[in-house]
Amino acid sequence: MTASSAQPSGVLKALIAPELAGVDQVIQQRLASDVALVNQIAQYIVNAGGKRVRPQLVLLVAGALGFKGPERFELAAVVEFIHTATLLHDDVVDESDLRRGRQTANAVFGNAASVLVGDFLYSRAFQMMVSVERMRVLEVLADATNVIAQGEVLQLMNMHDPDITVDDYFRVIRYKTARLFEASARLGAILAEADTVAEESCAELGDALGVAFQLVDDLLDYGGSTAELGKNVGDDLREGKPTYPLLVALERANASERELLRAVIREGGATQLEAVLAVIQRCDALEATRQAALEHVERGRRCVLALPASTHREALLELLAQSVARVS
Ligand code: IPE
Ligand code: IPE
Ligand code: MG
Ligand code: MG
Repeated sequence: MTASSAQPSGVLKALIAPELAGVDQVIQQRLASDVALVNQIAQYIVNAGGKRVRPQLVLLVAGALGFKGPERFELAAVVEFIHTATLLHDDVVDESDLRRGRQTANAVFGNAASVLVGDFLYSRAFQMMVSVERMRVLEVLADATNVIAQGEVLQLMNMHDPDITVDDYFRVIRYKTARLFEASARLGAILAEADTVAEESCAELGDALGVAFQLVDDLLDYGGSTAELGKNVGDDLREGKPTYPLLVALERANASERELLRAVIREGGATQLEAVLAVIQRCDALEATRQAALEHVERGRRCVLALPASTHREALLELLAQSVARVS
């Protein structure tokens, strides 16, 4: 039995529910603006839900290392704000119209309002992190936010390019996704004043979970359902975005399949989705993506097991397993 197929013990849910209620309280307090449209859009996306994975990482790592102060709620809310800001911007860039089971903010309120409220959330997150009065916290989050922006630009440069390599792909997902996971876990360790070795191990846990999480997200864009995901499947292909499933298929394809895949990446669009899915299936590319995600989950597990035994540690193992449970 692999790590990821371990039965969930239920400890995660029991432990995290009251903690997330604390985070939601901070989120609601800190969303306030005297500009009506800011409130409206910010509430619209935040209240749509979301899995709150990054806040869970802050809270569980802090808890696993014995930290119980209220700053954990503030920083968990900060990472969720940064994440939400990137989603507002990302849906404009990706021209997406479905997110968290609802129309995207850009579909309802327009691109300009979405971008500007994304900026509001980013800058509010910076006000909040200053309130924690820790230079290291500022440093970690300033760096992470900057790297995410570079990741989105890097990805933009890779669009419609069939010569993108697997290394190029991993660089993009490390920047745009894993870095915020890494920062979240690192912040938990910083709050707990962990030593450097423990902090780096927690940071690696975040990185591993983030990489696995994006691999799974990219798998589900081909192998999932819109209803389950709350966002449209097939979007990556429509945009000509070379993600892992496509790159594996390209590597394993025969000459005519390769020509099809290269043309679709160059041109984008949804008309070839069925044909591309057939190639992906023949090349077993979704299973290869799942295996790649599992490797990172295993790397994350080793980091979690370096923490002292506790219910928080159990919950972290469950959070890792959950990230791939969607494709198991
Ligand atoms: C979506 O993140 C963007 C990716 C990194 C794949 P989540 O899947 O965490 O989004 P929500 O917050 O649960 O909606
Ligand atoms: C998510 O990227 C955005 C960031 C991580 C900044 P994607 O474009 O791959 O994610 P979805 O599919 O829109 O959630
Ligand atoms: Mg997107
Ligand atoms: Mg995107």
